Amino acid sequence: MNALSFAKALVALSAGLAAAGAAQAQAPAAAAQPPIKVGLMLPSTGTFAFLGEMIDKGFRLYVQEQGGKLAGRDIQYFRVDDESDPSKATDNVNKLIKRDNVDVLVGTVHSGVALAMARAAKESNTLLIVPNAGADAITGPLCGPNIVRSSFSNWQPGYSTGVLAAQKGAKRMMTITWNYAAGNETVKGFTEAFEKGGGKVVKDLTLPFPNVEFQALLTEIAAQKPDAVFAFFAGGGAVKFVKDYAAAGLNKTIPLYGSGFLTDGTLEAQGAAAQGLLTTLHYADNLETPRNNAFRKSFALTYKQNADVYAVQGYDAAQILAAGLNAVKGDITKRDAMTAAMRRATVDSPRGKFTLSAAGNPVQDMYVREARGVNNEFRSVAVKALADPARGCRL
Ligand code: BEZ
Repeated sequence: MNALSFAKALVALSAGLAAAGAAQAQAPAAAAQPPIKVGLMLPSTGTFAFLGEMIDKGFRLYVQEQGGKLAGRDIQYFRVDDESDPSKATDNVNKLIKRDNVDVLVGTVHSGVALAMARAAKESNTLLIVPNAGADAITGPLCGPNIVRSSFSNWQPGYSTGVLAAQKGAKRMMTITWNYAAGNETVKGFTEAFEKGGGKVVKDLTLPFPNVEFQALLTEIAAQKPDAVFAFFAGGGAVKFVKDYAAAGLNKTIPLYGSGFLTDGTLEAQGAAAQGLLTTLHYADNLETPRNNAFRKSFALTYKQNADVYAVQGYDAAQILAAGLNAVKGDITKRDAMTAAMRRATVDSPRGKFTLSAAGNPVQDMYVREARGVNNEFRSVAVKALADPARGCRL
């Protein structure tokens, strides 16, 4: 090495050292605040793909509105497609827990998959926020301080639709759904309220998830001629069911009621077949509140599409996480203080303000909605501040 190149190397070395020194000076702050790792486990394929997409968009919208940070911490996303397949759920959730080492799990849509997530979250003591799946056990026997839900228990919209159907004067009803936790538990909640209101469920019809071959079951409904039918379906399956019900001419003679998933995010695809359908749910598109109007405007501007209940639940999952993180100034290691703060929070949701029960489930108003055009329009409050009974939860 000649004298000139030695001098150049020396300059480069000292510049490098200076840069390293400057980086080191910043290092303590940066090292104390790595991003919060959020593991989104949602369906991107199958009958619930659209629902997963809306939850993802809602969650990210809230974070974006806070400048991309929660409690001053950057958010880093990890995403796994759970395919709404319970048989793959444990492997999928472990990709987020063990491989990606996430701080918080957010998921999912399908109750069977969410049950596996709740078990894995309990075993590994990972924080879990459920942004849709209603499996009653998650805030029942499987409840835990590290598990909360931004959505509903299956019992809730089932129960409130039972109240509605009894008020409408139906006496003999049939139910129809997929044979899995969400379908069966929603029907159970429906039957509880409907029979309390003086009605009788005369027959429950089921088919395997995500089967959409409804014809034989519709023929049975036509033969039995109940006063009305209650249905739980969602996503692509709900689109097909509502169209098939109308195509069979049943909508002219046998009123159809559903938990709101029957018509949420689906009205464009269902077209005329869904018009006038009455459902109950914890959200209605046209709630005339400043909070809902601002949310819907922000969602439409960001994504060039209208929000639905799934977007609201994703948005509120991020709000609940923020409530916990704000209480501990972003220090996610203070888990107990965080989860206690989440349970103390009043969530300023587009659906209306709600709180979480001790079991971690929303205590919320359930609305009667009517399908009009592409909106589920608010008609009345079916049940005020409905709390899931949290049967079997011991905290
Ligand atoms: C569930 O599996 O819990 C579910 C799926 C779609 C809509 C509502 C509930």
